[in-house]
Amino acid sequence: MKAFFLTLLLVASAVSASRFDLTYPLRLRSDGSETLLEGITCSAWRYATSTNNIRDWKTVPTECEEYIKSYYETHKFQDHSKAVNREAYFYAREIPLAKDGRDVFIFDVDDTVISNLPYYREHGYGTEEYNATEFDTWLEKGEAPALPETIKLYNKLLNLGFKIVFLTERNAGHIKITQQNLRNVGYTTWHKYFYKGSKYTGLTSGQYKEQMRKQLVSAGYRIRGIIGDQWSDLVGEAVGDRTFKLPNALYYI
Ligand SMILES: *[C@@H]1O[C@H](CO)[C@@H](O)[C@H](O)[C@H]1NC(C)=O
Repeated sequence: MKAFFLTLLLVASAVSASRFDLTYPLRLRSDGSETLLEGITCSAWRYATSTNNIRDWKTVPTECEEYIKSYYETHKFQDHSKAVNREAYFYAREIPLAKDGRDVFIFDVDDTVISNLPYYREHGYGTEEYNATEFDTWLEKGEAPALPETIKLYNKLLNLGFKIVFLTERNAGHIKITQQNLRNVGYTTWHKYFYKGSKYTGLTSGQYKEQMRKQLVSAGYRIRGIIGDQWSDLVGEAVGDRTFKLPNALYYI
């Protein structure tokens, strides 16, 4: 009898060990989600990039293309975006707005309010090196869809009475197509739209955005919140009261 239970116990532990291989670091499964990448998994890579611990990466590691594809195509990305946008709303609705109309929420544009996923689908989900010519061809179509979770936040903030500021690194030549794209997908109004004028060409995205935010503050605006998919949207000076970081596992700026 004792031997019987011992056998049962051994069988049970063997089954649980094989079902929960992921708890043993040396026995990672090698399906798409757990591809090894120089000792870490693709999900660990995504975590470390999204928290800005891995920085300045040029492309998604080729080993992780399937993983990133599944992150975007199985609603995980939207789920994560929802968590961030919802939290931004919970935060914003508690802010008592002044009557002077100077409480602003800053939105980045690319992959914050509109999505470039259709482009990246055709370019290996970020595994291919950035090609400005090809990206501009996509951008100039003006067909980027709205990010469904961000547009909900946008509408709620408008209803609460916040002024919406778009702050994008897109240039002067792209103002018309971008604004048309924004309107077509439901972003019909904004208080200000900052683009990267030619005099800022020498600045990094982060430096340029910091300058624009400082201008806003000098003009008497209160930056209540910033939402963006890149850390360079959210760090530096004049970052306002609170920042919200959306997921982007396709590229780093
Ligand atoms: C970028 O794309 C264009 C158009 O497809 C191509 O002619 C060019 O060689 C590409 N540049 C690089 C660096 O791959």
